Parts: sequence; C-alpha cells; structure tokens
Amino acid sequence: MSQSPNHPGRPDPDELLALALEAARRAGELLRDGRPADLGVTATKSSPIDVVTEMDVAAEKLITGFLAEHRPQDAVLGEESGDSRGRSGIRWVIDPLDGTVNYLYGLPGWAVSIAAEADGETVAGVVAVPMRGETFRAVRGGGAYRRGGIGAAAAEDWQRLRCRPSPPLSQALIGTGFNYVTEVRAGQAEVVRKLLPLVRDIRRGGAAAVDLCDLAAGRLDGFYERGLHPWDLAAGELIAREAGARSGGRPGRPAGRELSVLAGPGVFAELQPLLEEWGAWHD
Ligand code: IPD
Repeated sequence: MSQSPNHPGRPDPDELLALALEAARRAGELLRDGRPADLGVTATKSSPIDVVTEMDVAAEKLITGFLAEHRPQDAVLGEESGDSRGRSGIRWVIDPLDGTVNYLYGLPGWAVSIAAEADGETVAGVVAVPMRGETFRAVRGGGAYRRGGIGAAAAEDWQRLRCRPSPPLSQALIGTGFNYVTEVRAGQAEVVRKLLPLVRDIRRGGAAAVDLCDLAAGRLDGFYERGLHPWDLAAGELIAREAGARSGGRPGRPAGRELSVLAGPGVFAELQPLLEEWGAWHD
C-alpha cells in the first residue's frame, strides 16, 4: 500500500477510502438483500429498546473480515464487536447498521458507516444508504461527495457536496436524534420543547450517519444529539465537515458523546450557545 504524500509512514487515505467503499458496498448488499422476513431482536444493549439483530452482527463480521484480509495490522472499533488493538496506527470505526430500529421496522433510513482514523484523526469516511441507492464519501482535506440517490446525474458519477448556505435559525431545518436511555431522553425532550418554536422545523430520521450526510447534501441546515458513539459519528462527521459544516460539542470541545452539534457556520453560531444554555449535554 502506498504512503500518504502529506504524512510519510501513513497509508494513503484514498486507499483506505477504497477499502471502506468496497466493505460498505458488500455489507449494504447483504443487509438489503438478506433481511429475513421474520427479522427479530437477538439482544439488547443500553436499554430494552436499544436492539441488536442477527443482521447487525452479520454485517459487522463481513466488514471486519474484509478489512482484516487487506489490512491485518489495523485496530478496529465496531459497534457490535468492540475494540481490538492494532500495530499500524490505523483504526477502523464501524457502524455496520446505523438506524437498526428503522431496519427492524422495514423503514429505509439505515446505513453502513465506516471511517478510518490515522493516529486518532479521521482521514477517510464512507456512509452507504442502500435503500436510497446512495453512497457518501470523504477524505480529510479532499471534499465530500455523493454517488446515486435522488436527482443524481448518473449512477456512477460522484457529485461534490456543499452544505446549504446558513439561513437564520428561525428558518433552519434541524435534525436530531434521541438516546435509548429513558433519563437521557427526558432531557432531550425538554431541549426539543424549547427549540421547536425557534426553528423552521425538526426532523428525527433515526440514523445519525444519514442525518450528517443529509446535512452535507443541503437537506438539513443543522444537526445535534447527545450520547452519540464514535461509530455513529466518525464517517458522517468527516463528510459533513468536508462539505463545509462546523462541528463541535459544548463550546470549545469536539463533537462526541457529551454533545454533537454540526451545522453550516451561521446556524452553528446560533444553535451551539442555545444548547449550552439549555444544558443539552446532561439530563
Ligand atoms: C442510533 C441512530 C439514531 C441515534 C441513536 C444511535 P444505531 O444508532 O444513529 O439516529 O439517535 O443515538 O444510537 O443504534 O441504530 O446504530
């Protein structure tokens, strides 16, 4: 594998991207074509409504197996399999099925999300949304792109993404998501109660990775959520940032478990202080 021109010793992010694209394509096909008619829940995690299906596990096995074949020395953080150490400085951050509840109910808003980190920094990310026929990708510093989906020119053409120019918050369409833990949700409901009268409207799509790509594609003006895991965030955050979104958590902190806020710069500047004032990062 060739090395990054900017960081000698690191693999070229485009080569990591190519692996992520192929792994996401294979996992997306498995999930789309292999969904059993009688799909059920095989386990629960943080609460009884935080579910795992046999297909989450099968998709993660496919992805980790594929990556291990090509890059056996890399570390992996997967939603279903946890953390495994590596020796290369590269770590793959994988959500094999973001939007598991949508998938369980037969709703189309679910995705495969794969990011590659080099020494802790996300350098490549892919989000595949198979039921829309749409794939999003980004390499750090190289812009964000989408292929396929509604209004796409030709199925194989990659189209550069830019966030929508920021409207005032009162005209902004804001995406969000809700945690699976009841106490966290109660706090999130309170924040939505305060935000809803101040914005154009709110959307809850059910898959954070898809929301972040929709932000990148100009289909949302902003997004926030408390409690996201690295696998929900990594690829979508890079894609949104490369499309021009600002990303952060509480003021001065990066997006993460505590709070993630991503939006065009104008909306970000209005939204982040309100979320801070309302204590959107705690119960
Ligand atoms: C969930 C989705 C959802 C978000 C939750 C995530 P999962 O991921 O991204 O939109 O609100 O916080 O946990 O469980 O479907 O992989």
